[in-house]
Amino acid sequence: MTKWSPNSWRAKPIMQVPAYPDQAALAEVEGRLATFPPLVFAGEARKLKKQLATVAAGDAFLLQGGDCAESFAEHGADNIRDFFRVFLQMSVVLTFAGAQPVVKIGRVAGQFAKPRSSDTETKDGVTLPAYRGDIINGTGFDEKSRIPDPARQEMAYRQSAATLNLLRAFAQGGYASLENVHRWMLGFVSDSPQGDRYEALANRITETMDFMQAIGITSESNYSLRETDFYTSHEALLLGYEEALTRVDSTSGDWYATSGHMIWVGDRTRQPDHAHVEYCRGIKNPLGLKCGPSLTVDGLLQLIDILNPENEPGRLTLIARFGSDKVADHLPKLVRAVKKEGRNVVWSSDPMHGNTITAAGYKTRPFDRILKEVQTFFEVHRAEGTHPGGIHIEMTGKNVTECTGGARAIRDDELQDRYHTHCDPRLNADQAIELAFLVSELLKKGAGVTQRKVVNG
Ligand code: PEP
Ligand code: CO
Repeated sequence: MTKWSPNSWRAKPIMQVPAYPDQAALAEVEGRLATFPPLVFAGEARKLKKQLATVAAGDAFLLQGGDCAESFAEHGADNIRDFFRVFLQMSVVLTFAGAQPVVKIGRVAGQFAKPRSSDTETKDGVTLPAYRGDIINGTGFDEKSRIPDPARQEMAYRQSAATLNLLRAFAQGGYASLENVHRWMLGFVSDSPQGDRYEALANRITETMDFMQAIGITSESNYSLRETDFYTSHEALLLGYEEALTRVDSTSGDWYATSGHMIWVGDRTRQPDHAHVEYCRGIKNPLGLKCGPSLTVDGLLQLIDILNPENEPGRLTLIARFGSDKVADHLPKLVRAVKKEGRNVVWSSDPMHGNTITAAGYKTRPFDRILKEVQTFFEVHRAEGTHPGGIHIEMTGKNVTECTGGARAIRDDELQDRYHTHCDPRLNADQAIELAFLVSELLKKGAGVTQRKVVNG
């Protein structure tokens, strides 16, 4: 393999690149970004990798989720807080059920660039370049908005820094303390079936905390009751931006992406000899790889060789996103081959990206298909004797109507009510918590499997 450097990807074929009209302006922005402080530290990425290694070993569960695309217009404290509290609620539900730690990674503080199925978008006979995420161009359906503007990269960097700052404060400043387990509930969730269920669980946690306090284990004396580790991730799509934020870690001398703790390669840009895989192979962060229906067994093994040549546990998370009707056909052979070859990976289920349909003129995802894909993912892993390590979802803390179904049974004709996403349809807070409860049932069933394994030696 040729020598890697932060810019060696530039010599490779590349998909999904924006056509910046002013290359000099682009180079100037990238040059400036390269002088800005890192957003995350190498030590944090290493800590996350260690936690993911426990997932790979079957001893923890990964919860990864957030917006499909973050937006400049919706950057505010309320949005970040509401996302974070739903994420904490999901995580408590999953921890309680699985009796396992939950590794928490947001699709946040950097999730701006979007791969598109088509380079153009046509509306009422007018064809314009597709929207590629706020870090590249604008959503407005006019020629000017759709021109890629390098200045947006600096906006995205600064928004990421501000978002990360607030998330760090929430995670470590007391908000995420288990003593607040009742306070994470959002008003509109509290009167839903999920609200009652969550309340009952929160009561049990509070009771347990009271007991622990009585015997001297308090949130003051115990860090893990008071704080949580929360990490950031995004798709490493816009490689000029990633390159500018790639830095040498002074402790180890290794290269790290400092735009987020974990980055992943999308399903459209995972060609083994292309630019995105080239960039990712050289940095030491934990990586994700989206695995869709076109991925063959040999193709996957080849990508694992390139992205995780040392077979390091926690380095690589395989994110299966086949669709509820395809996952049973595609996943078993991949899981089997990875196991047979002894590759250490985390397997995670993205039940969103293979289940997008159009209804009433909106891109949507039916909740029952999302659930079915996760269920099948668990079944496949149980049958193969491997760990169904996590879920990867698109969600928001807002009460949106973007995915249909769920306990409140959002109908096709209700999608128009609060359809706010800039890209793909997200689970709303109710649906996200409902999914967490359903996954918790699947984890509980598995707890029996693990115990039996232990009993049988
Ligand atoms: C995404 O995660 O938003 C995405 C585009 O996914 P995929 O690469 O799996 O299609
Ligand atoms: Co998406």
